[in-house]
Amino acid sequence: MSALRVLKSLNSIQTLALTWKREGLLVGFVPTMGSLHPGHISLVEQARTAVGPTGKVVLSIYVNPTQFGANEDLAHYPRGFREDLKLCRSAGVDVVFAPCDRDMFLVGGKADYSTWVEEQQISMGMEGAARPTHFRGVTTVVAKLFNLVLPDVAVFGAKDFQQAAVIGRMVDNLHFPIRIILSPTVRESDGLALSTRNRYLDPAHRAQAVVLSRLISKAREVVGKSRGGILANELRTVLNRVLEGFPLARLDYIEFFCPSTLQPLGRVKRGSQMAVAAFLGSTRLIDNGPL
Ligand code: PAF
Repeated sequence: MSALRVLKSLNSIQTLALTWKREGLLVGFVPTMGSLHPGHISLVEQARTAVGPTGKVVLSIYVNPTQFGANEDLAHYPRGFREDLKLCRSAGVDVVFAPCDRDMFLVGGKADYSTWVEEQQISMGMEGAARPTHFRGVTTVVAKLFNLVLPDVAVFGAKDFQQAAVIGRMVDNLHFPIRIILSPTVRESDGLALSTRNRYLDPAHRAQAVVLSRLISKAREVVGKSRGGILANELRTVLNRVLEGFPLARLDYIEFFCPSTLQPLGRVKRGSQMAVAAFLGSTRLIDNGPL
């Protein structure tokens, strides 16, 4: 295993990526916002499997300000660079790329950044409706990172199902020669999907955060028992009863949709996808799964 390299300048990562291209090495990429947990490490493992022992795995750590809304948690977003580097070293990452805001979004130190990448269909519902500028920030930064790291393969977590779908659409529409891998959600033993934002939860809210995966399991059970599916509104009524058992949770949305088009469904069947977003105190969590 080669020693971990940490690169911060845009020029250094792009020069290295071009060298790797000339040498014919495969590059796997895991974009993150740091504060790494076992979910991120599973993405690294997928990237390594995809590029093999001779390929290179790059993980980026960049808390992208452009994907946070005005009243969101940018200023308080957890950061732990040293701990992240330790995890990357033991997971066999070759390069950590950690750019700064000035280089990414203030070209030449001036506030003259004016180019955006915006998907305008599947990014509109769910997270896009709840957080109107979020996906524009995600697609712009991911496109920029792709141009800097020049990966053959990039790995995204299925917990952010809509994000992965939006990025997949961007890759298709803009002809990035990159294969996108969707990596399964990693969960705590009680079902809570791993997320950096779980760190915000106090014990009482942590105990009730299991509501998201419980809602999905209940929906799966009901759809599994139905013949030919169930009306979305009927399923919502069943799920509202589950919610009553979790008084600390405030539902943001539940959506049933087609996993390939992300179109909302009036009738929910086996193979439909469900997404849920809920506040536990001031912490907003999301989860999703197939039914
Ligand atoms: O999923 C994330 O951590 C971020 O949205 C990403 C893909 C790194 C872009 O900033």
